[in-house]
Amino acid sequence: MNKMSIIEKALQKTAVFKQNAENNVNNVQHTVTENIAPLVTPAIEDVIKVVAPKLTAQNIKTTNTIQINWAKLIAAGFISPEQTNSQLSEEYRIIKRPLVSNALNGKSKGIARANLILVTSSLPGEGKTFSAINLAISIANERDKQVLLIDADVAKPSVSKLFDIKNGPGLIEYLEGGVNDLSEIILQTDIEGLRVIPAGKRHGYSTELLASNKMQELSMELSERYNDRIVIFDSPPLLAATQGEVLASMVGQVVLVIEADQTQQNDVMESIRKLKNCDVVLALLNKTRNNFNLNYYGYGNYGN
Ligand SMILES: Nc1ncnc2c1ncn2[C@@H]1O[C@H](COP(=O)(O)OP(=O)(O)OP(=O)(O)O)[C@@H](O)[C@H]1O
Ligand SMILES: [Mg+2]
Repeated sequence: MNKMSIIEKALQKTAVFKQNAENNVNNVQHTVTENIAPLVTPAIEDVIKVVAPKLTAQNIKTTNTIQINWAKLIAAGFISPEQTNSQLSEEYRIIKRPLVSNALNGKSKGIARANLILVTSSLPGEGKTFSAINLAISIANERDKQVLLIDADVAKPSVSKLFDIKNGPGLIEYLEGGVNDLSEIILQTDIEGLRVIPAGKRHGYSTELLASNKMQELSMELSERYNDRIVIFDSPPLLAATQGEVLASMVGQVVLVIEADQTQQNDVMESIRKLKNCDVVLALLNKTRNNFNLNYYGYGNYGN
């Protein structure tokens, strides 16, 4: 099967789901089109019952440590480090597998900066932040993996908001040159393998900062100095601003989140055109209907 036909097949699936659309949040599901299996997200009530992980005082070693409010994340439907057997955790195991494999074997697979993964979508609200955070938690749950989650949606810093990071420098301050060392903006979370760079303050020229040489240098540094760490960028939608496209040019892998039942195929195709120079693009069909059907499509890789 050629690469585009895989994407087209996945898009047809989107249209099929669309016919069955229904606005019941408890039935929200998601699917991956990388090796896309329509998979079931558990009802949110089920997820809420999960016990939040205990955080002891010894875990908090520096002022640059944050404690994630797990009850809040779990109530919002995110996976947790303790709930490793849930349907959602299982979905993210499938979603992360090719990304981690590419990240760790980028050189041999000919993927530059393979450890840098951008999560984006065509339009607002398709599930970029949901997917970026779940991916980060899922990978960090593997005891031997280190993940750095970067809130690069600087105009709408949802990761920072969900993690209750209010003050202190972040990506913007670093790009402005107001921070001496990268370590000053990296926050350790209560999951050992998960660190976060918050977006930082609002800035009128954030687009220019994200397109700057300093951002290029940062992505080089993260791919070289931190090449044993998987870096996940949350980003703005591709069709609403240029920032997502700029960021896509700096990473090795892109996850294109597509909201089933909602996103028009034209918009997805427009996004795919914007990502044409990326080495690896995996499409993740999110919020699909109840249709537990492990129907794999194979990789949505295309590009160079
Ligand atoms: N598979 C899913 N199951 C349940 N809820 C989901 C799912 N995907 C996304 N959501 C919820 O849908 C809403 C929008 O998701 P999210 O904020 O991740 O989108 P986004 O693409 O990051 O939006 P924006 O472009 O505004 O940043 C959030 O409330 C999120 O928790
Ligand atoms: Mg978001």
